[in-house]
Amino acid sequence: MVGCGNISAAYLETFPRLDAVALTAVADLDMDRARAVAEDFPGVRALTVDELLSDDAVDLVLNLTIPAAHAEVALKAIAAGKHVYGEKPLAAGTAEGQSMLDAAQAAGVILGSAPDTVLGTGTQTARKAIDDGLIGKPISATATMVTPGHERWHPNPDFYYVPGGGPLLDMGPYYVSALVTLLGPVTSVVGASSSTRSTRIIGSGPRTGEEIPVSTPTHVTGVLIHASGALSTLVMSFDAVATRAANIEIHGETGSLAVPDPNRFDGEVQVRRLDGEDWEVLPVSAGYRDAARGIGLQDLARTPEGELPRASGEMGFHVLEVMEAVLASAEAGTALPIGSTCERPPAVALSLTGGVEAVSGS
Ligand SMILES: NC(=O)c1ccc[n+]([C@@H]2O[C@H](COP(=O)([O-])OP(=O)(O)OC[C@H]3O[C@@H](n4cnc5c(N)ncnc54)[C@H](O)[C@@H]3O)[C@@H](O)[C@H]2O)c1
Repeated sequence: MVGCGNISAAYLETFPRLDAVALTAVADLDMDRARAVAEDFPGVRALTVDELLSDDAVDLVLNLTIPAAHAEVALKAIAAGKHVYGEKPLAAGTAEGQSMLDAAQAAGVILGSAPDTVLGTGTQTARKAIDDGLIGKPISATATMVTPGHERWHPNPDFYYVPGGGPLLDMGPYYVSALVTLLGPVTSVVGASSSTRSTRIIGSGPRTGEEIPVSTPTHVTGVLIHASGALSTLVMSFDAVATRAANIEIHGETGSLAVPDPNRFDGEVQVRRLDGEDWEVLPVSAGYRDAARGIGLQDLARTPEGELPRASGEMGFHVLEVMEAVLASAEAGTALPIGSTCERPPAVALSLTGGVEAVSGS
């Protein structure tokens, strides 16, 4: 594991439940952070990044660095012959993302990318409902994420307010990955964006009260035109207080679906049928149960040779290109085509474990 910051805690909690991967070594630019993790996990060594990448006991690198470092760390890992699974977004930009895909293919290693939340029961139950024809032909979707900003809780929120961050690149991966999982790949986009404040104030940790600069749009809206013809409307904001909109809604010819938070693995899917009187809760019917951050890593480790993992670099790249194009479209004031595509990854059958057992039998 390279990068022992905020999100590493979630993975560290999942590791003991993963039977296809074992944590052997950790690294961070800040060696104290790596040492602190190693102390808590007997048998796990704290190494420098270079030591970790040249270690024979490491065959898969979990890249939990900040977005600006994703490509650099992944490319070094790939050059060392390691498979790589990284946090989202795949990279800070598509040029870097493409170099990761190319390098992985040339080296014959697997590249995976978060988010893996879409493999949980929430998004997968919604997907099954669509695939089973419950709402007829999907026509459109809305995806809404609004928050006043991560600087309120994250002790080092700088990366959220520079290019590569912002609400779209930070939270968009969950929403766009869910939309691609549900409705398939995107062929063109239209975007618009704004920025309300040029600085933000850190709200927690040792740097509380410190002002940090903003150099990326903090409110982004876009329309994604899917290859299927479905149209998704996206609203991603660090400038708003709250919303009562469903995280994601999918509208089909004969029904509408309310899809739970794609930043979570579970949650209730509801359907409103054309001839129905009210919204109905759908029983959980697909996805990894009791999943948590790391299930994508497990899925990758279990991928049969020659196949792509579900949370693949290819999907991460397509999602990144869509998001980058929404931002570019907002600047250009015109619709933009999407050059890449990806397969909808294979659906996840309802499975109790997928190798991930609930910690306390819940
Ligand atoms: N914080 C969250 O809630 C959250 C949730 C989901 C996903 N993510 C994603 O996880 C990633 C990390 O986020 P975070 O919140 O943990 O950030 P963080 O800043 O808390 O931690 C990042 C860690 O990576 C280390 N690092 C940076 N560059 C490095 C390099 N070149 N080599 C080795 N170590 C390096 C830093 O020293 C730091 O310890 C981001 O891509 C983010 O989008 C974060």
